[in-house]
Amino acid sequence: MKAKKLTGERAAEYIKDGMIIGLGTGSTAYYAIKKVGEMVKNGLKIKAVPTSKETAKLAAAEGIELVELSDVKSLDLTIDGADEVDPDFNLIKGGGGALLREKIVASATDQLIIVVDESKLVEHLGAFPLPVEVTPFSWQYTQQMIEKFSCSSKIRKENGEIFVTDNGNYILDCDFGKIEDPVKIAVELNKLPGVVENGIFAEMAEIIVVGYNDGHIEVLE
Ligand code: A5P
Repeated sequence: MKAKKLTGERAAEYIKDGMIIGLGTGSTAYYAIKKVGEMVKNGLKIKAVPTSKETAKLAAAEGIELVELSDVKSLDLTIDGADEVDPDFNLIKGGGGALLREKIVASATDQLIIVVDESKLVEHLGAFPLPVEVTPFSWQYTQQMIEKFSCSSKIRKENGEIFVTDNGNYILDCDFGKIEDPVKIAVELNKLPGVVENGIFAEMAEIIVVGYNDGHIEVLE
């Protein structure tokens, strides 16, 4: 928890007056949002696009002015978490189920800053099952097509019910084992009808702020 708080707060230091920023989702982004809230209360003037309903609620409670991405078109920077980060800054995201909005916001941002604790750093993506957002319509058929890529998958559930994303879709958590070519998998998955988006964020992150349990922070660029 300490590492997540440190990295979230450190990333907030990149935010300057007048910026339009993206706010990520999850337990590490949470600390960045709390810090931004504090900065806003101290006079920082920014506008923000949230990546989930949960983040919108938190940011609004912190007094952060929220705007629609379609109204601002591009963002100066976005701070978001990740489930895995490889040495080339490829990411797996979507453990919290917000991958679609996170990817749209990430694609609209000039600078994507990822905040993670040390446990998220990996040599190869894939130990964390890849979240893939799919349409509810015939999701089992989509699952069969995804599994042709040599993975096993599970429909995500919450409290015994199928988990529904902010966009009304489902999530298949796909175990590929070691992902040798993240870009290829990401492209191939998105070609399948029924797949809305996948949680591989390749060649998007510019800065990774890593928090360590001993209290130090490393900024990778
Ligand atoms: C949300 O859908 C995710 O992409 C999160 O950013 C990711 O799961 C990291 O979350 P934590 O910071 O809670 O580990």
